Parts: sequence; structure tokens; C-alpha cells
Amino acid sequence: MFDPGSNACNKTTGRKKAYLQTNKPRMLIIGARGFLGTYLARGAAEAYEVIRGNRVAPVEPGHIAIDITDRQSVRSAFEQTKPDIAVLLAALSDIDVCEKDRERALAVNLHGAEHVARAAAQTHARFLYTSSAAVFDGRKHGYTEDDPPTPLSFYGETKTRAEAAIQTLIPSAIVLRFGLVVGFAGKAGTNAMLDNLVQRWSVGTPTLLPDFEFRNPIDAATLSRFMLELLEKENISGIFHVGATESISRYELGVMLAARAGHSGGLVRPQKEPSPGRAPRGADHFLLTHKLKAICDNSIPTCNEVIERCFQ
Ligand SMILES: NC(=O)c1ccc[n+]([C@@H]2O[C@H](COP(=O)([O-])OP(=O)(O)OC[C@H]3O[C@@H](n4cnc5c(N)ncnc54)[C@H](OP(=O)(O)O)[C@@H]3O)[C@@H](O)[C@H]2O)c1
Repeated sequence: MFDPGSNACNKTTGRKKAYLQTNKPRMLIIGARGFLGTYLARGAAEAYEVIRGNRVAPVEPGHIAIDITDRQSVRSAFEQTKPDIAVLLAALSDIDVCEKDRERALAVNLHGAEHVARAAAQTHARFLYTSSAAVFDGRKHGYTEDDPPTPLSFYGETKTRAEAAIQTLIPSAIVLRFGLVVGFAGKAGTNAMLDNLVQRWSVGTPTLLPDFEFRNPIDAATLSRFMLELLEKENISGIFHVGATESISRYELGVMLAARAGHSGGLVRPQKEPSPGRAPRGADHFLLTHKLKAICDNSIPTCNEVIERCFQ
């Protein structure tokens, strides 16, 4: 919860603040304790007054409790914090869990996103939504923002429907799609995969990674920089793709990460068939980034740069 402060006018945006603490524009990051949230909150701290929105939040400045499945909780969080910018990272991000628990997936990924978009529209907050390459079936090599979504998994279905709902509710929204984010976790219990892999390799445990799923990965820090750059551009809206300049298999990515972490690439073994019982995943999720490249100063990294930045 917020500490009450003055009701002065924010110099940057000119908007009235119920709880003004600094002269910086205020960014509400919803899902701030997740994998991406920890990177974005860190990256945004210099230019923004960051408010971390999480289901469970300490009662102290800079934090707000928000459960996106609860419309009243969302409305209350926006009314209390009055953000200039809201970034929605909160999601049920486990594709296999979404496939099995469709009701929960819809409640969080679709209806939760709708609640947040509605609140952002009502409070005139600039809004960025994080979507996924899973909106595509992965049957062709290279997707632009104009390609029609063709999701294979229920997770992809929820993201596709959320994108459409958000763009109706708040046409000025930025929808940022990416396929595979790499990096070490800022906190335990997030979607980050690198900690677990490096821990296994450091005790000599081999890892099986699919050689039939191709993605253009992006590291969490670079992704956060692109989010911030898009949000700085006031007249930008619509869908954008972000990812490395080239796509590689999860297996090849694993070999490169293992080598960079100082372990033998032999610890990474190619998985040839999908594991039974898992949600369907597209074979080739190469997101083309020409649209982003045309407007951003940040350059699109190569896969080698993505890997290097994970360790910086
Ligand atoms: N990581 C990737 O490779 C990847 C790829 C494509 C797209 N994305 C998208 O990027 C976004 C961020 O992903 P991530 O990797 O940071 O995921 P993450 O580590 O799983 O973080 C998701 C966060 O959402 C929160 N959350 C879940 N349900 C909530 C609810 N009802 N109300 C409020 N918060 C809730 C979780 O909070 P709790 O800790 O309380 O559960 C968690 O902190 C998601 O939209 C995801 O779909 C990620």
C-alpha cells in the first residue's frame, strides 16, 4: 500500500497525483516479482518512480497489492497509485499448467488482462502488455506483426484473445511479443530457467533440450530496455516483435549457454521428440523485428550478444 503524500502536479506529465512522492513519472509494474519484473523494475528505477504490483505486497511505499483476476483489486490499485504508465507482466506463464487448468488460464491471462486494460484506460495510463510468440503455430520461418495469430496451445490462445481485447479496450496500448527470455532469476520461484540449468551443469548433470524447437531468444535485461524505449515514445502503439537477429534451437542455445557458464557443451543432449503429456509448442517461432528496429535506438542483439548479456 501507498503512503499518502501531497496532491501536487507531476512536472513530467502534468497529471494530478494523489500520492506524489517524486517528480518522476510513475510506473506500475504488475507482476514485478516475476522473472521479467525484477529486471524491468531495476531498469526503470532511474527514470521512473517504480511501484511494484504483486498479489502479496508489503505495506510500504513503492509496493501495491494487486490480484489481476479481481476487478476491484485492480481498480483499487490504479486508484491508489495513479500510474502514468502500467506494464502488465503478471500471467500464468507455465504453458503446461495453462493447458491443464484452462479456467485458471482464462481467469489470469484473459480476464485479468482485460481488468488491467480497462483500469489503464479509465485512468489514462500508458499501457504495455507482454504477449508471446505462442500466438503463432510455428509452422513457417519468420513472423511479422501482420501475420494472423494461429495458436497451438491454450496459453497461446489466452494470449491471442488478451491481445485482441486489450487493443479494443485501449487502442493506444503497446503489445510486445517475444518467444524465449533467458537470464538468471532475480528471485526464486520465477519463470527463469538459467539458474536451474547452471546448477545442474555445475554438478555434472546432463540436460535434455529440444533440437526441434527454434526460437530467437532475448535476454531479460535487453528486453526491459526495449520496453522502456517503446514507452518513452509517446505516439507508439500496436504490436511489436522482439528477439535476437537469428533463431536457434533450444538445444543449440543450451550448448552455447553451458559453454559460456564454463561447462562442457556435452552436458547438453539433444531431445528428439516432444515429452508426452506436454502442451503443444510451435516448431519455429522466429519473430521478425524490422518494425522494432525501425523505431528504436537500442540495436537488435545477435544470439551471442543475448547469451553474453545474461552473464553481465
Ligand atoms: N519468460 C519467457 O520466456 C516469456 C516468453 C514469452 C512471453 N512471456 C510473458 O512475459 C510476461 C512475464 O513473464 P515472466 O517470465 O516474468 O513470468 P513469471 O516469472 O511467471 O512471472 C509472472 C508473475 O505473474 C504473477 N501473477 C500470476 N497470477 C497473478 C494474479 N492473479 N495477480 C497478480 N499477479 C499474478 C506471478 O505472481 P506470483 O509470484 O504471486 O505467482 C508472477 O510474479 C508474461 O506475460 C509471460 O506470458 C514470457
